[in-house]
Amino acid sequence: MLTAEIPDNPFRDELATRQTPEPCTLVIFGATGDLTHKLLIPALYNLALDGELPPTLKIVAFARRPKTSAEIRAEYAATNARQSRQGHNDEFWDGFRERIVYHRSEFGDPEGYASLGRLLDELDAARGGPGNRLFYLASAPDNFEEILAHLKQTGLNEGRGGGWARIIVEKPIGKDLASAQRLNNTVAAVFDERNTYRIDHYLGKETAQNIIVTRFANSIFEPLWNRNYIDHIQITCAENFGMTGGRGAYYDKAGALRDMVQNHLLQLLSLIAMEPPTDLSADSVRDEKVKALRALRKFNSVDEVAQNVVRGQYLAGSVDGQAAVGYRDEERVDPQSRTECYVAMRVYIDTWRWQGVPFYIRVGKQLPKKATEISVHFRRAPHVLFQTLPARGRSNVLVFRIQPDEGVSLRMLGKVPGLAMRMEPVKMDFRYATSFGKPSPFAYERLLLDAMAGDATLFARRDEVENAWSFIDPIERAWHESGQPPLMAEYPAGSWGPAEADELLERDGRSWRRI
Ligand code: BG6
Repeated sequence: MLTAEIPDNPFRDELATRQTPEPCTLVIFGATGDLTHKLLIPALYNLALDGELPPTLKIVAFARRPKTSAEIRAEYAATNARQSRQGHNDEFWDGFRERIVYHRSEFGDPEGYASLGRLLDELDAARGGPGNRLFYLASAPDNFEEILAHLKQTGLNEGRGGGWARIIVEKPIGKDLASAQRLNNTVAAVFDERNTYRIDHYLGKETAQNIIVTRFANSIFEPLWNRNYIDHIQITCAENFGMTGGRGAYYDKAGALRDMVQNHLLQLLSLIAMEPPTDLSADSVRDEKVKALRALRKFNSVDEVAQNVVRGQYLAGSVDGQAAVGYRDEERVDPQSRTECYVAMRVYIDTWRWQGVPFYIRVGKQLPKKATEISVHFRRAPHVLFQTLPARGRSNVLVFRIQPDEGVSLRMLGKVPGLAMRMEPVKMDFRYATSFGKPSPFAYERLLLDAMAGDATLFARRDEVENAWSFIDPIERAWHESGQPPLMAEYPAGSWGPAEADELLERDGRSWRRI
């Protein structure tokens, strides 16, 4: 037999051998905010504890409030004790906190950036090696433009001594396509796309990454991954809380569609629906994701939106045995608000693979539990051999549990032991906790490290974000600008959402998976 020489795929081992983060200084704009306190510092602390951070990494906390480094370190220690996934070790913290330097400045003060530049030069000199700088826009989005302009003016958008400068941009990336394009243009005027890292923390979740592994590292799923075998797909992101911690002020302007669907859920959908990339380089993966997003069938009229999208608000009710107020009575929410805190929709992807396969998405606040999952519902067996099939569980369902209880399970029918031919649905279950015996890192841990290593695979590229907005915009327009907005459905807090969302599936002869 002739054996052809097949050249080695240079990306074959990329998943196993991730690139190493390079020594750098991380500058966080908006360092006194919630995101830095609750997510960024604990992520950095956990990475340090696991020995993953470059030992010389320094963190410059840039914010407006007058404060000393000692004060911000103490404040971070207090939140870290509550937020870190590995607890808070005082002795380790004492070493870790030395990495943090507070830099006070208004976001619009040129002198603040000039002195930041001097500080960064000093830190580079103390570390030795090239001046690598990683900037993190964690402030309110209103400040992004000003910060970027100043970084450019002071030349901080370039690395020093052969080093690099990169920017991480937090969500929201705009509130519609036009504003996202404006922000992307502003960023592009200061940083190249290859140095721009748009965070979507769902991509950093272990189980979201596992979608690619399950699909493309195993041979048994991909042949079935199409309209011939898949009946439909459901993506659910349920949360059992409302507007905690004054969140209403932001949320009431955003709503579930912008806050969760445009970014997190469409990212999950693109991972589930994408074609196999030719390799695992950042652009190959993102090229495929963006094709899936581009193929999302857009809604062309108010009627189409009304037929396919349900929006809702929660009324007073009870969640986990606790009384809960209705959305409009939440703190910092307009009592007349028309903002949705629940969305369910049916979408189609117009490709050969997915023609005619509905993707049902639902997301909401004040539902009975916090759980995110994707379920792939296969078509039923074509020929019924058995007379006694159970009413429930006749089709195979592959479930990706994104959180909690991370894992993947496959439902199938099995014979109940005994003399009669009875069947019950059973589950083959893979759980991260038991199979690998170690906890998953926080999404932000993975993403911060990737940005330090220059790996943008798990960050949203400009065209992904903009294509997602092109899909979302017509829905927002139908709701807010048509003059005849489709109904705002209602549901009691603690229930699984409005009846209209159930009807959306019932009309297709299907139902939402019980989580
Ligand atoms: C954020 C949204 O991006 O994601 C929040 O703004 C939401 O409204 C959160 O609660 C959910 O993230 P996670 O990781 O807790 O599922």
